[in-house]
Amino acid sequence: MRILAVETSCDETSLALVEAEGGFDAPKFDVRELLISSQIETHRPWGGVVPNLAKRGHAESLPKLFTALAESLPRAKSEENIKLIAVTVGPGLEPCLWQGIEFAKKIGAENFPDAELVPTNHLHGHMYSFLLPQKENSESPVSNSEFFPAVQLLVSGGNTMLILMRSLVDLEKIGETLDDAAGEAFDKVARMLGLFYPGGPEIERIAALGKPDAIAFPRPMLQKKNYDFSFSGLKTAVRYHLEKNVGRCRPEDIAASFQKAVLDILITKTLRAAEEYDAKSVILSGGVACNAALQIAMQLETESRNISFFSADKKFQGDNAAMIAAAGYITHLQNKKYPPAANGSLKI
Ligand code: KG4
Repeated sequence: MRILAVETSCDETSLALVEAEGGFDAPKFDVRELLISSQIETHRPWGGVVPNLAKRGHAESLPKLFTALAESLPRAKSEENIKLIAVTVGPGLEPCLWQGIEFAKKIGAENFPDAELVPTNHLHGHMYSFLLPQKENSESPVSNSEFFPAVQLLVSGGNTMLILMRSLVDLEKIGETLDDAAGEAFDKVARMLGLFYPGGPEIERIAALGKPDAIAFPRPMLQKKNYDFSFSGLKTAVRYHLEKNVGRCRPEDIAASFQKAVLDILITKTLRAAEEYDAKSVILSGGVACNAALQIAMQLETESRNISFFSADKKFQGDNAAMIAAAGYITHLQNKKYPPAANGSLKI
């Protein structure tokens, strides 16, 4: 089944053309085209995303990306036409979401009148990004009978949550942030250090030059016997440290110590959940999953516990339409009760 996907929830305009096949037991995806127009340069002077500028950016980029994508349509291998249009309907910035929804409806009516429009949850996009192939002809990870239960850590700019997946659509949110998301904390600490937006990659870059044990920043909620997170106290601790040590601290050490504190919290809570729920797999997703230190540490910690580790390729971690195609397909299977039947509701 050929899927056209549209993503405009924040500051990335993205369209994708994806071929999907298989049921819940082994969904497979082939990403034919993925186009992303980033607005980072537009928002950088403001230190964060300005919703109205983002909306205007989507309005300008969507037709351009669609023209580029349309040129690639005849090159796609399969003879069949677009069967499904998956569009992000939330969560996200409302004015931005509407740009994508109206555009998806318009191109559907004008070009693909027989296609089914599937309203798709942005968080499902991140959650199912691990199903997108890293190698050509690779097997669907969930086709392994030893895959579930899985614990997924979803860490993006707007969300930090732990999800217990008993099947692909049996989802239970077991914890989430009570205040800032992990990515938001990276962005805010980067701003305190005078680094560019988005802050995550910048913190990671200078952290590599600093000492992770230089400053003992707090690890909020680490000892709490639940799976919730809180990052605002850690962010405030960084601010106090900067105020008290003007001219006496190396930004590299602050970045490294802050990053270490965030990673300790994320990894400890994920592994604790994996142990409690007897997880066979751990999945890492969202923009913060681009962090190489987090990837490596999670890989090592899961390996030493005999738990399989899955995470999408970096190009599918940040906001992109290929992950929306994957989530749209899973939603479509759920709506159609595609065999083999799976228990679960798909909500988180
Ligand atoms: O998933 P995403 O692209 O957008 C949302 O759906 O929120 O995530 C963006 C977030 C930003 O806060 C950004 O700073 C963070 O992901 N991020 C990183 C890294 N790359 C992006 N955080 C830490 N380390 C990175 N390398």
